Amino acid sequence: MSGADRSPVGTEPRLGYPHLGFGVGLRSPHFQEVLEREPAVDWFEAISENYMDSRGFSRHVLDRVAERYPVVLHGVSLSIGSADPLDLDYLTRLGRLAREVSAAWVSDHLCWTGTLGKNTHDLLPMPLDEDTLRHVVSRVRTAQDVLERRLVLENPSSYLTFSGDTLAEWEFLAALAEEADCGILLDVNNVYVSSVNHGFDPVAYIEAIPASRIVQIHLAGHTHCGTHILDTHDGPVNDRVWELYRLAYGRTRGVSTLVEWDSRIPPLSALHAEVLEARRQVTEGSGGAEDRGLDAGRGEGAQEPRDPGGAHPPGAAWVELS
Ligand SMILES: [Fe+2]
Repeated sequence: MSGADRSPVGTEPRLGYPHLGFGVGLRSPHFQEVLEREPAVDWFEAISENYMDSRGFSRHVLDRVAERYPVVLHGVSLSIGSADPLDLDYLTRLGRLAREVSAAWVSDHLCWTGTLGKNTHDLLPMPLDEDTLRHVVSRVRTAQDVLERRLVLENPSSYLTFSGDTLAEWEFLAALAEEADCGILLDVNNVYVSSVNHGFDPVAYIEAIPASRIVQIHLAGHTHCGTHILDTHDGPVNDRVWELYRLAYGRTRGVSTLVEWDSRIPPLSALHAEVLEARRQVTEGSGGAEDRGLDAGRGEGAQEPRDPGGAHPPGAAWVELS
């Protein structure tokens, strides 16, 4: 790792999108506590499909959260790699939700999720060759036209590759971002999971991704099964992933970071400790996560309110970790 791996927290916008700081996924077990305590995290990421067309309690929570924090929408059903026609109705509804919650950006995965109108609810790997690249570039451009904003696409974790692949995943993702003019959500845990499963060098992957296109980083836990790794999102971030995170963060000179925890979801305080650890990993001089509570950053150390790039109504509270 170079000296750049402990850069200060940056503020540089990416592709016009703001640096939001250190956030967590908005998950239903934490709804009540988030509303009542307004924890000191910088921003929340919400799974798009859980809130589209919903006017129930979940949507109420998202609306309240969006009044207080920047919100990013993260989808799992765009199926940008599918051979099916793009679902324009889905995109229209996604765009509506993004406007209603003033989403800072909208992301999904570089994958396909089904065909013939069926959604498998799995993020399936694509053949990585020039034909697929042309196909996905065209679809990303169409989706961006419908959404009237740049998409941000995430590298998925995977468990198989195609024998006809002619491009490495990092080559495909870098070319896609440049040719479709979209952003990248670099999931550092996914890079590590796939690197073990397929036997590539995760450092080479991260160094090949154009830093200027990385709008966001994901961190998560995984499960090592001996012969392979499952991307389970059910525990704290692994030490090797922290190393790779410092490398990726340093290359971007600071970019929005989010901790995902989707299975065996812990109390909000544990998730909060993990996001504080993410900040500590890339910031010199900050204290350990273990001595900071959910209100860290709300008191004497709290920053002045700032406008997170239009994602927040003017005057709304801005809480930053410190
Ligand atoms: Fe992710």
